Amino acid sequence: MRLKAIVLAAGEGTRMKSRLPKVLHKVCGQTMLKHVIDTANNSDVEECIVVVGYEAEKIKGSLSSETKTVLQEKQLGTGHAVMMAYDNINEEDTVLVLYGDAPLITEKTLRTMVNYHDKGNFKATVLTADLPNPEGYGRIIRDTENQLQKIVEEKDASEREKSITEINSGIYCFDGGALKDALPKLRNNNSQNEYYLTDVLPIIRDMGLKVGLYKVQDYEEIMAVNSREQLAEVEAIMRKRIAKKHMENGVTIINPTHTYIEKAVTIGMDTVIYAGAMLTGSTVIGEDCIIGQNSRIENSTIGNGVEVQSSTIISSNVGEGTTVGPYAHLRPNSNVGKYVKIGGFVEVKNSRIDDYSKASHLSYVGDADVGRNVNIGCGVVFVNYDGKNKSRSTIEDNTFIGSNVNLVAPVVIRENGYIACGSTITSEVPGGALAIARARQENKEGWVNKKGLLKE
Ligand code: UD1
Ligand code: CA
Repeated sequence: MRLKAIVLAAGEGTRMKSRLPKVLHKVCGQTMLKHVIDTANNSDVEECIVVVGYEAEKIKGSLSSETKTVLQEKQLGTGHAVMMAYDNINEEDTVLVLYGDAPLITEKTLRTMVNYHDKGNFKATVLTADLPNPEGYGRIIRDTENQLQKIVEEKDASEREKSITEINSGIYCFDGGALKDALPKLRNNNSQNEYYLTDVLPIIRDMGLKVGLYKVQDYEEIMAVNSREQLAEVEAIMRKRIAKKHMENGVTIINPTHTYIEKAVTIGMDTVIYAGAMLTGSTVIGEDCIIGQNSRIENSTIGNGVEVQSSTIISSNVGEGTTVGPYAHLRPNSNVGKYVKIGGFVEVKNSRIDDYSKASHLSYVGDADVGRNVNIGCGVVFVNYDGKNKSRSTIEDNTFIGSNVNLVAPVVIRENGYIACGSTITSEVPGGALAIARARQENKEGWVNKKGLLKE
């Protein structure tokens, strides 16, 4: 058997009131559609076929090149959408139907459903759930033998049917052959004049084949997003799940509801994450770190035992035992070594700072290669831009850069060089030399009195 998934993603999603097609809205940093495709791929699905329609090109552009798409030019209903994938279905396939706007479905549930479908010899299985508020969903109507009689859409339902709380998730498992036989028999004689996929179920049953109902216990899994409010609800659930996974792995999260961690982020044991932290993209955080309040770390690698306080780190690497912040900004391509100190209001960009070096206060380090054990005093500026070109500076090991120094790039400070505070350095400083590049102090005795400015 080959397991395939058809992911419906052709609808516009008008209730989102958005220029973006609904399935491209993000949940925990990733489009809803990508979440669904990833979940399918991680649960033994061999091929995903995405049905696109509204803004098809935009949606295709968001997908990896190996994802197959089929076009549904007019959105004539969920059944019609599946028909578009007709030629991609083989009789011997098992076919999952998933929704691009229902990103909370889990691999475990898909696996169990497929297993239930197989073991029970069903030709179609519907994933259902009991909802406290079933409004808007198709209701599951069971016959006297507790089997599926039909699914009734809210718009077509009687008052009695509306009181049923078991709903259709819209997620199904089909035998390829049965689905192919049933699809051409669909009609659109309902209140919305749509080809409902739900109608293939009684068709399959009337062919004398078994239709199963598989009820998921945790109804959060089947929640679909139709509005911004539901988008926020789904986001909160996914965020909770991600935080739970990290806590199970030994990470302390002080306040999970106020911590934003994207799906792909990894965090080592005994790291503590404070409220307001935002860890995104492909970020990797080591063990025993402290990620302080309101720190934003994006696509970066943080070594073990690092402390980050209220700082922003983008596309950079930070080595073991280093401290960052408060209020530091590591801009892209900053490679900070081990046991380095990046202090308050220090900005680093496209630079290397080697082990044991310090920039403790109020500095800008841009386009520089800084060696080991270098002291960058308060208020040092790496002057890397002349209005036209960017140039690099090289600061060798064991140098001392006094406070308020300007290093005008391109410039090299050799090993053990020493720069007096307040200097503006424009040419190479030899190893072991002291460079002083500022006007010498002159005192004019009695000047204030002579000018009549003396205050009694
Ligand atoms: C559908 C089900 C309903 C179920 C609910 C669960 C039908 C007839 N009804 O209703 O029983 O309770 O989902 O959320 O199937 N889509 C297309 N092409 C179309 C129409 C829809 O690709 O022509 C896609 C949409 O983009 C969306 C999904 O299918 O991702 C569901 O469509 P939607 O119109 O929201 O279905 P519901 O009315 O919610
Ligand atoms: Ca829907």
